[in-house]
Amino acid sequence: MELSKRRPFKEYETFVPEIGAFYDTLRRPLRRCLRVNTLRITPLELTAILRAQGYRVRPTPFADYLLEHDGLENPGSSLEATLGYFLSQALTSALAVMALGPRPDEFVFDLCAAPGCKTTHMAQLMKNRGLIIANDSREKRLRALEYNMKRLGTTNVVTTSYRGQNFPLRWRFDRVLADVPCSSEGTARFSSSPVCSMRRQGQSFLVKIQRDLIVRAFDLLRDQGVLLYSTCTYNPDENEGVVQYLLENRPAEILPIDLSAPHAPGLLQWKDRSYDRQMERCWRIYPHQLNSVGFFLARIGRGSPQK
Ligand SMILES: C[S@@+](CC[C@H](N)C(=O)[O-])C[C@H]1O[C@@H](n2cnc3c(N)ncnc32)[C@H](O)[C@@H]1O
Repeated sequence: MELSKRRPFKEYETFVPEIGAFYDTLRRPLRRCLRVNTLRITPLELTAILRAQGYRVRPTPFADYLLEHDGLENPGSSLEATLGYFLSQALTSALAVMALGPRPDEFVFDLCAAPGCKTTHMAQLMKNRGLIIANDSREKRLRALEYNMKRLGTTNVVTTSYRGQNFPLRWRFDRVLADVPCSSEGTARFSSSPVCSMRRQGQSFLVKIQRDLIVRAFDLLRDQGVLLYSTCTYNPDENEGVVQYLLENRPAEILPIDLSAPHAPGLLQWKDRSYDRQMERCWRIYPHQLNSVGFFLARIGRGSPQK
């Protein structure tokens, strides 16, 4: 994808709402929030520390531990970050974890986990209880995850390094997160070189991996378990197309996402492809809707829906 062109997402303009606002947001730098690590500190305590240093910090409407900030440059390298008081991350990543909703004492699988932004958030929501298996096929990236776990005081995680599509079918999990490798279009901005991990010509190769990953993620769910499939891309072939593949091959159903945040519903049609009506329950989050990364979320159930 080449962002030097004025309309890099021309083929998506038929479905992106408020296309002018969308492109305006891409002209601004990517914005991150601070996720307060409540395993180490409260949101009020961290807010007081940062305000004493002259920074403007306020809670987002989505959770008191997700903070917006002004003026904090490179927060990830601050003393407070090193002490594990917070993680600087995209707000949309936090919504993915909140949509999955892991609870203390559950058995949770994170299929593509490194560098652990969502794993450590899940551990926080689980109060370090229960067990998370955090898997990533790239061993080197697991080192970053393990560093983040240490820094943030995460103690209910074990790591594994399988190709997710080959992860042994030995256990069944209450919740599974499939935050799959994708073309990362949602992170691209005009101001920086595009952060697309894979270019368009590689996307059919990606779709094959994503289909295999979502099927294995589903097969690892216990009855009435919940799967969250997410990407940071707009491409319907990597989003609705992959979820459609799952619906056609497994007894899966799309569950509503019980959160309140601006988003657009999943697509029912893209070029010559038609998608199941349930796809409307998926969330497409565009950068201008939350001033964050573009994201896709599908909450998927096996058996009768579960909260
Ligand atoms: C979108 S990133 C995950 C981000 C992570 N969930 C987080 O919140 O920090 C996708 C990850 O998938 C991993 N990956 C790529 N192919 C994989 C595969 N076949 N099986 C498992 N992991 C894979 C990559 O190494 C990368 O770390």
